[in-house]
Amino acid sequence: MKKKVLSLLLCSMMVMGTLVGCGSSSSSDGGTSDGGSDSGDTITVGFSQVGAESDWRTANTASMKETFSEDNGYTLIFDDAQQKQENQITAIRNFIQQEVDYIVLAPVTETGWDTVLQEAKDAGIPVIIVDRMVDVSDDSLYTAWVGSDFRAEGNKACEWLNSFAEAKGIAASDLNIVDIQGTIGASAQIGRTEGLNDAVKKYGWNLVAQQTGEFTQAKGQEVMESLLKQNDNINVVYCENDNEAFGAIDALEAAGYTVGDDIANGEVMVMSFDSTNAGLTDVLSGKITVNTECNPLHGPRVEEIIKKLEAGEDVDQLQYVDESIFAVDDTVTSVEAETSLGDTSKYDVTVVTQDVIDGRAY
Ligand code: AHR
Repeated sequence: MKKKVLSLLLCSMMVMGTLVGCGSSSSSDGGTSDGGSDSGDTITVGFSQVGAESDWRTANTASMKETFSEDNGYTLIFDDAQQKQENQITAIRNFIQQEVDYIVLAPVTETGWDTVLQEAKDAGIPVIIVDRMVDVSDDSLYTAWVGSDFRAEGNKACEWLNSFAEAKGIAASDLNIVDIQGTIGASAQIGRTEGLNDAVKKYGWNLVAQQTGEFTQAKGQEVMESLLKQNDNINVVYCENDNEAFGAIDALEAAGYTVGDDIANGEVMVMSFDSTNAGLTDVLSGKITVNTECNPLHGPRVEEIIKKLEAGEDVDQLQYVDESIFAVDDTVTSVEAETSLGDTSKYDVTVVTQDVIDGRAY
């Protein structure tokens, strides 16, 4: 899918062909929903969620459940896949059997979806992908995707690090970076890791190690502990989400390191992604130096797509969410970073204050 981003964005899909069998149902099989029950004149949505691996994911699940509530006219059949693709495939097959009106999929990884999405298409059920992307041979297997530009997130974070090092007079070759990666094969991991890999080549940084922390706090801590045993020169930890950063900080502090941005004086800088409330609280205290936003509030965005489909309107097949970047101070005030669409955008860096944290919904 990603290779076709540009061309796909230029055209919006006529979705009437995919609407066979969709629309408000007079009754729903309901199924084993923890978000609703058998419905009358409601729209039934089967949502296959990745799991509950992070604060981001919790906020994402809450957004979907709040949006697709019975009060709002929906029956939500929610399935937590516990980070396993096979569970998601089973959930989608169950949704098809239950003849839901829409299938919403937050895929754990990008590949491996062709067969089951073909089954959904054959059943005439529109599929909306949310958050991470799918990499399928036939883009007509899903109606729309809404989520983050993960590659731009990685680029933003790395441009920030380069500008920070320049501002502080730190030589590129003195940056000894470890990358605690997300779930391997997930769009969020691919984009953030690729952003770092390219910047390492471009700027001549020293990439000491790369290992997955599976987007969890426990694994982030475990990986950091092990990396500290193998390397004594680490001065930047590039965590691919907030929960990994929390675990890495615990490991660093337990090993006697001070986390912060004073690399020249022995501190270890922690970088993160997501910008959850807890993540930005760690920025305010200086434990995380820079935090690149990944917005989880997709419920209303998916609902807008469904409402358009219900009204017989066109929807853009790919919909990127606008996102920001936050830092502990104004050493770097803005970054210019390339997006997945190949253009370069300028992003102002927001200095985190308590007001900034209080003003955010997650
Ligand atoms: O796909 C989004 C990523 O998944 C978020 O960065 C992470 O926290 C979550 O688990």
